[in-house]
Amino acid sequence: MEAKTLRFIRRGELVSLGNVPPDRTLLDLLREDLGACGTKEGCGEGDCGACTVVLAEPEGDALRFRAINSCIRLAHSIDGMALWTVEDLAADDGALHPAQEAMVQCHGSQCGFCTPGFVMSLFGMYQNHVCRGKAVSRELAQAELSGNLCRCTGYRPILEAATQMAELPRVAVDEPGLLAQLRALVPGSGGATGSAYLAPTSLSELLSLRAAHPEAQLVAGCTDVGLWVTKLHRHYPQVLDVTRVAEMRRIEPWAPPGDASAAEAGLSIGASAPLTDAFAALVAQRPQLKNFAERFAGLPVRNSGTLGGNVANGSPIGDSMPLLIALGARVVLASVRGERALPLEDFYTGYRKSVLAADEVLARIEVPGPAPGEFLRAYKISKRYDDDISAVCLVVNLQLAEDRVVAARIGAGGVAATPARARQTEALLAGQPWSEEAAAAAAESLRAEFAPISDMRASAAYRREVLGNLVRRLWLESQGMSHINLESFRLEEVAA
Ligand code: FES
Ligand code: FES
Repeated sequence: MEAKTLRFIRRGELVSLGNVPPDRTLLDLLREDLGACGTKEGCGEGDCGACTVVLAEPEGDALRFRAINSCIRLAHSIDGMALWTVEDLAADDGALHPAQEAMVQCHGSQCGFCTPGFVMSLFGMYQNHVCRGKAVSRELAQAELSGNLCRCTGYRPILEAATQMAELPRVAVDEPGLLAQLRALVPGSGGATGSAYLAPTSLSELLSLRAAHPEAQLVAGCTDVGLWVTKLHRHYPQVLDVTRVAEMRRIEPWAPPGDASAAEAGLSIGASAPLTDAFAALVAQRPQLKNFAERFAGLPVRNSGTLGGNVANGSPIGDSMPLLIALGARVVLASVRGERALPLEDFYTGYRKSVLAADEVLARIEVPGPAPGEFLRAYKISKRYDDDISAVCLVVNLQLAEDRVVAARIGAGGVAATPARARQTEALLAGQPWSEEAAAAAAESLRAEFAPISDMRASAAYRREVLGNLVRRLWLESQGMSHINLESFRLEEVAA
């Protein structure tokens, strides 16, 4: 079984490659097949950013640029896109791109191993912000460089490079020209049965392929399957990529059946929507989720990973599921037999197991809008503040009226074999006055409700302790105390 020819644009030229295995990573393709060794391999698991490259694809009438980790991205997934590596930024006469020049001027590199990755993240920022007339603040730079680690330079000069590159003479990609080039390249149907890399563009095509090839490895952003390739050395003779299915990339207003109230409109989020876009929609609806959304993972992971992939993968330490459970989300599963919807918490049957049938895919996630009196907080506890996996994730959604808990929904991660709903604690709170005593009782209930395990991220005792402590924090925040968390910490204020 062979995959169709892989085509993408690099340095304005069409690159066309045959015989690329379906599970070849983009990093291996660059370094080993194309000899483009400027892109480095550090961790091989989406953690360090040394392998960062930038992709662009048409979105409406413009180009959308995304920095991604090439180490865990399958090469075929970039078919029909434009690609930049660190070798592609300098002009033909050797003049450095502002993202590179600013790093030189600010002394942003020492051993240099991380530098290509940082430069590419800066280039993504340059295209998305500087070239769109928007300033790059230090806060923005910190958020967008959260997926890049440096062991020797220290981050201050790199952050200075990010804020200063806009002051250098402008260098812009010819976007209209590239857009035209990409439109001419639009891949035909990637759904030819028998191909080693199936990339259908419509839901009906995807469902037919899923039914015909239940053994094909289903992938979305590949931010976990990529590790099965790089770390577990698994091989996949056939891959079914859902990221090009137009219906599954949409994010639309949605209301629960029978409730068309515009004020309470929720969201229908296609399972293939990148996490960046899915969280942007959720944050627009509930601004208090901004910090949680940014800490989900580094930007390159959020640019590749999808909400549906995180949910379907079913890891008990995935961060989106506790949130979606607390929001009362439901998942819609589709197959050639039709669709069915169920509450997210009923989707999981065991460790990384779900009710998904062999011929089904997760098509979309439906999220109700905020209820009147909603008090929502999402907490992530991890060893590193940015770019890390949760030891414990807790999301509490209280519906308050006149200081009474009308209803409570609580989602938790890192405390059981699956993402979990804390039904006992919810029942304890429902109908009670929202008081310090009620919060203390809820904290104790929550500690008793789960039996977490000890692993490299945290001990069971720590996890239990933290669960209760987070309810205490929720209580304090509900009383107006906001300076009890790292989110309120500003490096600049300390330095001043
Ligand atoms: Fe570390 Fe890719 S090599 S993120
Ligand atoms: Fe050495 Fe960043 S300059 S790792």
